[in-house]
Amino acid sequence: MSFERQIFPDAPAAARACAKYILDALEQARTARGQATIALSGGSTPKLLFERMAASDFKWQGIHFFWVDERPVPPDNDQSNYKLAAGTLLKPVNIPESQVHRIHAELQPEAAAEMYVEEIRRFFKLQPNELPQFDVIHRGMGPDAHTASLFPTEPLIADRGKIAAAVRVEKLSQWRITLLPGALLAAHRTAMLVAGDDKETSVRSVFEAPYDPAKYPAQLGLRDSGKVEWFLDEAAARLLQR
Ligand code: 6PG
Repeated sequence: MSFERQIFPDAPAAARACAKYILDALEQARTARGQATIALSGGSTPKLLFERMAASDFKWQGIHFFWVDERPVPPDNDQSNYKLAAGTLLKPVNIPESQVHRIHAELQPEAAAEMYVEEIRRFFKLQPNELPQFDVIHRGMGPDAHTASLFPTEPLIADRGKIAAAVRVEKLSQWRITLLPGALLAAHRTAMLVAGDDKETSVRSVFEAPYDPAKYPAQLGLRDSGKVEWFLDEAAARLLQR
Protein backbone atom coordinates (compact mmCIF):
# COMPACT_ATOMS: atom_id res chain seq x y z
CA MET A 1 0.00 0.00 0.00
CA SER A 2 1.48 3.29 -1.04
CA PHE A 3 0.08 5.75 1.47
CA GLU A 4 1.27 7.65 4.49
CA ARG A 5 -0.92 8.68 7.38
CA GLN A 6 -0.30 11.46 9.88
CA ILE A 7 -2.55 12.29 12.86
CA PHE A 8 -2.63 15.77 14.40
CA PRO A 9 -4.14 17.10 17.66
CA ASP A 10 -6.74 19.20 15.84
CA ALA A 11 -8.06 20.38 12.46
CA PRO A 12 -5.90 23.54 12.29
CA ALA A 13 -2.73 21.48 12.88
CA ALA A 14 -3.77 18.97 10.21
CA ALA A 15 -4.55 21.81 7.79
CA ARG A 16 -1.16 23.46 8.47
CA ALA A 17 0.76 20.26 7.76
CA CYS A 18 -1.34 19.55 4.68
CA ALA A 19 -0.71 23.07 3.36
CA LYS A 20 3.05 22.62 3.77
CA TYR A 21 2.92 19.23 2.02
CA ILE A 22 0.98 20.68 -0.92
CA LEU A 23 3.19 23.75 -1.31
CA ASP A 24 6.37 21.62 -1.20
CA ALA A 25 4.91 19.28 -3.81
CA LEU A 26 3.90 22.21 -6.06
CA GLU A 27 7.36 23.77 -5.71
CA GLN A 28 9.03 20.50 -6.68
CA ALA A 29 6.73 20.04 -9.68
CA ARG A 30 7.23 23.61 -10.87
CA THR A 31 11.00 23.25 -10.55
CA ALA A 32 10.84 20.05 -12.59
CA ARG A 33 8.24 21.12 -15.17
CA GLY A 34 8.19 24.92 -15.21
CA GLN A 35 4.58 24.94 -14.03
CA ALA A 36 2.41 22.84 -11.75
CA THR A 37 -1.23 21.75 -11.50
CA ILE A 38 -3.45 21.24 -8.50
CA ALA A 39 -7.08 20.06 -8.23
CA LEU A 40 -8.99 21.26 -5.18
CA SER A 41 -11.92 19.73 -3.33
CA GLY A 42 -14.73 21.51 -1.53
CA GLY A 43 -16.84 21.02 1.59
CA SER A 44 -16.13 22.62 4.97
CA THR A 45 -12.74 21.16 5.93
CA PRO A 46 -10.67 22.87 3.16
CA LYS A 47 -11.31 26.44 4.35
CA LEU A 48 -8.54 26.19 6.97
CA LEU A 49 -6.22 24.63 4.39
CA PHE A 50 -6.80 27.29 1.73
CA GLU A 51 -6.35 30.07 4.29
CA ARG A 52 -3.04 28.52 5.37
CA MET A 53 -1.87 28.28 1.77
CA ALA A 54 -2.86 31.91 1.14
CA ALA A 55 -1.04 33.04 4.31
CA SER A 56 2.24 31.42 3.18
CA ASP A 57 4.94 33.33 1.27
CA PHE A 58 4.61 30.90 -1.64
CA LYS A 59 5.08 32.42 -5.11
CA TRP A 60 2.10 31.38 -7.25
CA GLN A 61 3.28 32.03 -10.81
CA GLY A 62 2.82 28.97 -13.02
CA ILE A 63 0.45 27.23 -10.59
CA HIS A 64 -2.74 26.14 -12.38
CA PHE A 65 -5.91 25.47 -10.39
CA PHE A 66 -8.50 22.84 -11.26
CA TRP A 67 -11.31 21.28 -9.21
CA VAL A 68 -11.90 17.71 -8.08
CA ASP A 69 -15.65 18.24 -8.12
CA GLU A 70 -18.36 20.86 -8.13
CA ARG A 71 -21.93 21.31 -7.06
CA PRO A 72 -24.56 22.26 -9.67
CA VAL A 73 -24.51 25.96 -8.86
CA PRO A 74 -23.11 29.19 -10.34
CA PRO A 75 -19.67 30.37 -9.13
CA ASP A 76 -21.16 33.05 -6.84
CA ASN A 77 -23.33 30.56 -4.94
CA ASP A 78 -22.35 29.71 -1.35
CA GLN A 79 -22.47 26.02 -2.23
CA SER A 80 -19.85 26.52 -4.96
CA ASN A 81 -16.48 24.82 -4.40
CA TYR A 82 -15.01 27.42 -6.76
CA LYS A 83 -16.36 30.22 -4.55
CA LEU A 84 -14.81 28.67 -1.46
CA ALA A 85 -11.35 28.50 -3.07
CA ALA A 86 -11.68 31.90 -4.75
CA GLY A 87 -12.61 33.64 -1.50
CA THR A 88 -9.99 31.99 0.74
CA LEU A 89 -7.07 31.47 -1.67
CA LEU A 90 -7.26 32.56 -5.31
CA LYS A 91 -8.35 36.16 -4.76
CA PRO A 92 -6.28 36.81 -1.59
CA VAL A 93 -3.10 35.86 -3.51
CA ASN A 94 -4.22 37.40 -6.83
CA ILE A 95 -4.16 34.30 -9.01
CA PRO A 96 -4.68 35.48 -12.60
CA GLU A 97 -7.71 34.09 -14.49
CA SER A 98 -5.34 32.36 -16.92
CA GLN A 99 -4.31 30.00 -14.09
CA VAL A 100 -7.89 29.15 -13.05
CA HIS A 101 -9.70 26.25 -14.75
CA ARG A 102 -13.01 25.99 -12.93
CA ILE A 103 -15.95 23.65 -13.60
CA HIS A 104 -18.74 25.67 -15.22
CA ALA A 105 -21.38 24.02 -13.07
CA GLU A 106 -23.91 26.73 -13.86
CA LEU A 107 -24.44 24.83 -17.12
CA GLN A 108 -26.42 21.60 -17.50
CA PRO A 109 -24.47 18.81 -15.72
CA GLU A 110 -23.53 16.88 -18.86
CA ALA A 111 -22.51 20.05 -20.69
CA ALA A 112 -20.47 21.24 -17.69
CA ALA A 113 -18.68 17.87 -17.47
CA GLU A 114 -17.96 17.82 -21.20
CA MET A 115 -16.59 21.36 -21.14
CA TYR A 116 -14.36 20.50 -18.18
CA VAL A 117 -13.01 17.38 -19.88
CA GLU A 118 -12.24 19.44 -23.00
CA GLU A 119 -10.46 22.07 -20.91
CA ILE A 120 -8.35 19.37 -19.19
CA ARG A 121 -7.58 17.72 -22.54
CA ARG A 122 -6.57 21.08 -23.99
CA PHE A 123 -4.42 22.13 -21.05
CA PHE A 124 -2.62 18.80 -20.61
CA LYS A 125 -2.36 18.31 -24.40
CA LEU A 126 -3.76 14.80 -24.00
CA GLN A 127 -3.85 12.11 -26.66
CA PRO A 128 -7.12 10.18 -27.06
CA ASN A 129 -7.65 7.85 -24.04
CA GLU A 130 -4.80 9.55 -22.17
CA LEU A 131 -5.44 10.65 -18.56
CA PRO A 132 -4.19 13.90 -17.01
CA GLN A 133 -1.49 13.65 -14.35
CA PHE A 134 -2.18 16.39 -11.84
CA ASP A 135 0.85 17.25 -9.75
CA VAL A 136 -1.30 17.45 -6.64
CA ILE A 137 -4.87 16.42 -5.97
CA HIS A 138 -6.42 17.60 -2.71
CA ARG A 139 -9.21 15.29 -1.58
CA GLY A 140 -11.52 15.14 1.41
CA MET A 141 -13.85 12.47 2.71
CA GLY A 142 -17.46 12.61 3.86
CA PRO A 143 -18.98 10.75 6.85
CA ASP A 144 -20.13 8.06 4.39
CA ALA A 145 -16.58 7.64 3.07
CA HIS A 146 -17.36 9.42 -0.19
CA THR A 147 -14.50 11.33 -1.81
CA ALA A 148 -14.66 13.83 -4.68
CA SER A 149 -18.33 13.39 -5.64
CA LEU A 150 -17.98 9.63 -5.76
CA PHE A 151 -20.54 8.38 -3.25
CA PRO A 152 -20.89 4.73 -2.16
CA THR A 153 -22.40 2.48 -4.92
CA GLU A 154 -21.66 5.04 -7.67
CA PRO A 155 -21.16 2.81 -10.78
CA LEU A 156 -18.41 5.07 -12.17
CA ILE A 157 -16.18 4.13 -9.20
CA ALA A 158 -15.22 1.09 -11.29
CA ASP A 159 -14.26 3.27 -14.26
CA ARG A 160 -10.53 3.77 -14.94
CA GLY A 161 -10.57 5.34 -18.41
CA LYS A 162 -12.68 8.49 -18.23
CA ILE A 163 -11.49 11.87 -16.88
CA ALA A 164 -14.64 13.43 -15.39
CA ALA A 165 -18.41 13.12 -15.58
CA ALA A 166 -21.73 14.32 -14.24
CA VAL A 167 -23.01 11.93 -11.57
CA ARG A 168 -26.46 11.79 -9.99
CA VAL A 169 -26.19 11.71 -6.17
CA GLU A 170 -29.59 10.37 -5.14
CA LYS A 171 -29.03 10.85 -1.42
CA LEU A 172 -28.56 14.58 -2.08
CA SER A 173 -31.12 14.69 -4.95
CA GLN A 174 -28.40 16.51 -6.83
CA TRP A 175 -26.15 16.23 -9.85
CA ARG A 176 -22.43 16.74 -9.27
CA ILE A 177 -19.52 17.08 -11.71
CA THR A 178 -16.54 15.10 -10.55
CA LEU A 179 -13.13 13.81 -11.57
CA LEU A 180 -13.28 10.05 -11.94
CA PRO A 181 -11.01 7.35 -10.45
CA GLY A 182 -8.71 7.19 -13.50
CA ALA A 183 -7.79 10.88 -13.15
CA LEU A 184 -7.68 10.73 -9.34
CA LEU A 185 -5.34 7.73 -9.29
CA ALA A 186 -3.04 9.14 -12.01
CA ALA A 187 -2.07 12.09 -9.82
CA HIS A 188 1.59 12.39 -8.83
CA ARG A 189 0.56 13.28 -5.28
CA THR A 190 -2.70 13.14 -3.36
CA ALA A 191 -3.27 15.03 -0.11
CA MET A 192 -6.23 13.70 1.88
CA LEU A 193 -7.34 16.19 4.54
CA VAL A 194 -9.95 14.67 6.85
CA ALA A 195 -11.07 16.17 10.15
CA GLY A 196 -13.93 15.91 12.62
CA ASP A 197 -15.51 13.25 14.80
CA ASP A 198 -18.30 12.69 12.27
CA LYS A 199 -15.65 10.93 10.15
CA GLU A 200 -14.32 8.50 12.82
CA THR A 201 -16.31 5.45 11.71
CA SER A 202 -15.60 5.91 8.01
CA VAL A 203 -11.90 6.56 8.70
CA ARG A 204 -11.69 3.22 10.52
CA SER A 205 -13.53 1.48 7.66
CA VAL A 206 -11.29 3.04 5.01
CA PHE A 207 -8.11 1.85 6.72
CA GLU A 208 -9.27 -1.36 8.37
CA ALA A 209 -12.13 -2.83 6.32
CA PRO A 210 -11.44 -5.00 3.23
CA TYR A 211 -10.56 -2.97 0.09
CA ASP A 212 -13.87 -2.14 -1.57
CA PRO A 213 -13.99 1.40 -3.07
CA ALA A 214 -17.60 0.92 -4.21
CA LYS A 215 -18.45 0.74 -0.49
CA TYR A 216 -15.69 3.11 0.77
CA PRO A 217 -14.79 5.41 -2.15
CA ALA A 218 -12.12 7.17 -0.09
CA GLN A 219 -10.13 3.92 -0.27
CA LEU A 220 -9.33 4.91 -3.85
CA GLY A 221 -5.62 5.49 -3.75
CA LEU A 222 -4.81 3.24 -0.82
CA ARG A 223 -3.48 0.60 -3.17
CA ASP A 224 -3.02 1.61 -6.71
CA SER A 225 -1.70 5.11 -7.17
CA GLY A 226 1.22 7.45 -6.80
CA LYS A 227 1.89 8.97 -3.38
CA VAL A 228 -1.11 9.46 -1.09
CA GLU A 229 -0.64 11.37 2.16
CA TRP A 230 -3.42 11.40 4.76
CA PHE A 231 -3.72 14.31 7.19
CA LEU A 232 -6.14 13.42 9.98
CA ASP A 233 -7.07 15.10 13.21
CA GLU A 234 -7.41 13.12 16.44
CA ALA A 235 -11.21 13.37 16.32
CA ALA A 236 -11.38 11.68 12.89
CA ALA A 237 -8.71 9.11 13.80
CA ARG A 238 -10.11 8.23 17.24
CA LEU A 239 -11.20 4.67 16.35
CA LEU A 240 -8.11 3.66 14.40
CA GLN A 241 -5.94 0.80 15.67
CA ARG A 242 -2.52 2.34 16.37
C1 6PG B 1 -17.66 18.35 -1.94
C2 6PG B 1 -16.31 17.74 -1.79
C3 6PG B 1 -16.40 16.45 -1.03
C4 6PG B 1 -15.80 16.75 0.34
C5 6PG B 1 -16.44 15.89 1.40
C6 6PG B 1 -15.97 16.29 2.79
O1 6PG B 1 -17.88 19.04 -2.92
O2 6PG B 1 -18.46 18.21 -1.02
O3 6PG B 1 -15.42 17.89 -2.70
O4 6PG B 1 -15.82 15.36 -1.58
O5 6PG B 1 -14.42 16.56 0.30
O6 6PG B 1 -17.82 16.04 1.28
O7 6PG B 1 -16.58 17.48 3.07
P1 6PG B 1 -16.38 18.21 4.49
O8 6PG B 1 -15.02 18.73 4.49
O9 6PG B 1 -17.41 19.26 4.50
O10 6PG B 1 -16.59 17.18 5.57
